[in-house]
Amino acid sequence: MPSYVVTGASKGIGFEFVNQLSADSGNTVFAIVRRKATATQLSNLLRKNVTILEADVTDAKALKLAAAEVSKATAGKLDYLINNAGKINHPGFTLDGFPSVEALEDDLLDNFKGNTISAIHSINAFLPLLRKGSAKKVLVLSTALGDLDVTTQGGSFGEVSYSIAKAALNMVVAKYATQYKDEGFVFLAISPGLVATSMTEGFNNAAGELKLVGSMFTKLAPPDFKGPITPEESVNKCLEVFNRWTVEETGAFVSHHGNKQWL
Ligand SMILES: NC(=O)c1ccc[n+]([C@@H]2O[C@H](COP(=O)([O-])OP(=O)(O)OC[C@H]3O[C@@H](n4cnc5c(N)ncnc54)[C@H](OP(=O)(O)O)[C@@H]3O)[C@@H](O)[C@H]2O)c1
Repeated sequence: MPSYVVTGASKGIGFEFVNQLSADSGNTVFAIVRRKATATQLSNLLRKNVTILEADVTDAKALKLAAAEVSKATAGKLDYLINNAGKINHPGFTLDGFPSVEALEDDLLDNFKGNTISAIHSINAFLPLLRKGSAKKVLVLSTALGDLDVTTQGGSFGEVSYSIAKAALNMVVAKYATQYKDEGFVFLAISPGLVATSMTEGFNNAAGELKLVGSMFTKLAPPDFKGPITPEESVNKCLEVFNRWTVEETGAFVSHHGNKQWL
């Protein structure tokens, strides 16, 4: 039975990964949430092959405890890790426009903890199990905003800390990929597209950020772009790319189309 861990599974894209993976009763899915009590969408799923565990992904100890729970249930093995949890603050300032040095540093550090260091903690916690698993695959949710060409050619100088933290996350993936290629691991950073979740809802309400990303969306959008896609469509495409990704291509950063078409 293939086993999966999904972080940030309470809602949005993370919930949808759990939903689609657990639809196959042959899969065992461990859904990690910050607080079980508020993860009602997930608890209402009521699938026998889904186990809900609690861990804040910025807390390395909590992740180790969650990994120990998974290990007990799987005889020490894990096949797939989907590192989905992430955060954004939408402060609406350029790098030189924060109201104080403290506000700039707080936003940078908060994003770095919630998007970059958290992924390292998650991967480190589950690596011993993944090494004993048969798939050895790790998917990490990044964003087109962490791409240098999107930034310069798309004219996007907003969402600064989030973009910087996700760009660093792409390097995290490249580092693990390089270290573990000889063991047959596949690490992949993926941008899920523009997806209708609470994260994008927050962006649409952040007038300051919308101004700063400028014409990025119009520049990136293909002629047939119809706006944000559903979590269902995004996860379906991400899983298709993840499933076909091989060790030869480990460490890449691609979109939900499996290339550099971001929308
Ligand atoms: N939506 C998009 O268009 C889009 C585009 C590019 C990339 N992404 C990336 O895709 C991933 C999922 O985003 P989403 O749109 O589904 O966002 P979302 O609806 O805001 O969901 C984020 C998930 O991450 C969890 N999370 C955040 N911080 C956590 C922490 N410290 N510990 C444990 N869980 C934590 C949240 O849990 P709580 O419920 O406890 O807050 C929630 O389950 C993120 O990495 C995001 O950066 C999304």
